[in-house]
Amino acid sequence: MTTETAGTTGFGIDIGGSGIKGARVDMDSGEFIGERIKILTPRPATPEAVADVVAELLEQAEWDGPVGITVPAVVQNQTALTAANIDHSWIGTDCAELFSRHLAVDGKPREVAVLNDADAAGLAEARYGDPRAREGAVLLLTFGTGIGSALLVNGTLYPNTELGHLIFPAMDAEKWASSAVKEREELSYREWARRVDRVLEEYRRILNPQRIIVGGGVSRKFEKWGPHLAVDAEIFPAVLRNRAGIVGAAGAVRDGIRP
Ligand code: BGC
Repeated sequence: MTTETAGTTGFGIDIGGSGIKGARVDMDSGEFIGERIKILTPRPATPEAVADVVAELLEQAEWDGPVGITVPAVVQNQTALTAANIDHSWIGTDCAELFSRHLAVDGKPREVAVLNDADAAGLAEARYGDPRAREGAVLLLTFGTGIGSALLVNGTLYPNTELGHLIFPAMDAEKWASSAVKEREELSYREWARRVDRVLEEYRRILNPQRIIVGGGVSRKFEKWGPHLAVDAEIFPAVLRNRAGIVGAAGAVRDGIRP
């Protein structure tokens, strides 16, 4: 296929610590078109090995159009500057060069946009999620292996915030209150929510967002832990959940967003 529907169909890929996931996206609705494809993240997750898997995923999907790609890293000028939950060799990687080399179509470079995973999720929620996500000062957080963050003002992104790494209370916030920590320490929803609440209160004290959106897999069970949060901000769960990274990535390449 694929470029015949390129105006309304996009493709996004979300690179995570355990899986690399991709899907075609209907750019009008933000819904997936067809199945999401998931391939296990190679170990070690070096840039070359990951780019090979991304190429394989696109081949399986028979997609040769533009592609948006998320990484769990700070991305500036298409270069990864950090690597918290991926191989350290990503630091300093020119992602534009990496992916254009691995994803060329008939010898021609492919159009690619690379951005932080939580930033992609924030853009997707602002565009297709709860309308409140595009009103005013919004902080979106994704709880997973780490804590990802996206800051939005009326739907416009301030990229590359790394609030999961705020030192709190004595370590990175994500090392104390991510959903991976909840699993590892076998915390109840109430116990974990108490930690999340303290972290949110710290974010609120510094940033004063009007709204906080919580994403990541654990947001599906928001009714179990949301009521235990006392932080003084309007707080609600993300709508797109695990679709958000892929959809945000597809939107980024379509809109030429390249942090
Ligand atoms: C990374 C962020 C990422 C977040 C969620 C953090 O450890 O530093 O860049 O957005 O995890 O994956």
